[in-house]
Amino acid sequence: MRKVGKPVIRILGISGSARRRSYNTALLEAAKELLPEGAALEVYDVSVLPLYNQDIEVEIPAPVMRFKEEIRRAEAVLFATPEHNYSITAVLKNAIEWGNRPVEDNSWDGKPAAIMSASTSPRGGARAQLHLRQIMVDLNMYPINKPQLLVARAQENFDANLKLTNSEFREILRTLLISLTEWTLRLRGSA
Ligand SMILES: Cc1cc2nc3c(=O)[nH]c(=O)nc-3n(C[C@H](O)[C@H](O)[C@H](O)COP(=O)(O)O)c2cc1C
Repeated sequence: MRKVGKPVIRILGISGSARRRSYNTALLEAAKELLPEGAALEVYDVSVLPLYNQDIEVEIPAPVMRFKEEIRRAEAVLFATPEHNYSITAVLKNAIEWGNRPVEDNSWDGKPAAIMSASTSPRGGARAQLHLRQIMVDLNMYPINKPQLLVARAQENFDANLKLTNSEFREILRTLLISLTEWTLRLRGSA
């Protein structure tokens, strides 16, 4: 295991799926096993957030307040996004919108991030990843570019207990986590 130094980098993991047996949530569980030294990952269930509505923005609902606080406390964000209709899911977009509001309180601002995806299709969620990257421009987030982790044909690469079994994908995930952690430290150093 490569070392990235002593300070603990707190990574917030977000899955774009509310599904009980979600491959993307399972990908975050695999990430917990493969973290480099000096990094910690906590997964936040964004499927509990109310549907975004500007009318309720004046008095932000308590679950949203908690979520925004978790984003603020995190030094980096790890997104596991499914692909729905060539884009990210409504669950993830909803969480992104809450994090971005009200306009003077963009909780995502300046956060380093990484994206990964699992899909049952042979393309692995590439189009969702690109859409998420585009959204991150507006959020002013700093995603790493490489490695790209696209778990295609997820049903063949997770076992019945939702463990990521494909060793190639596990290795890419390990490298992605190192890359995110090193990138976070670099941005911290230049702050
Ligand atoms: C409404 C819907 C739309 C989908 N659209 C796509 C798609 O555009 N591309 C793709 O690769 N998979 C698509 N899928 C299949 C998903 O990749 C698959 O359901 C995957 O398991 C979702 O991730 P999860 O397991 O984390 O819930 C779609 C699934 C649903 C339910």
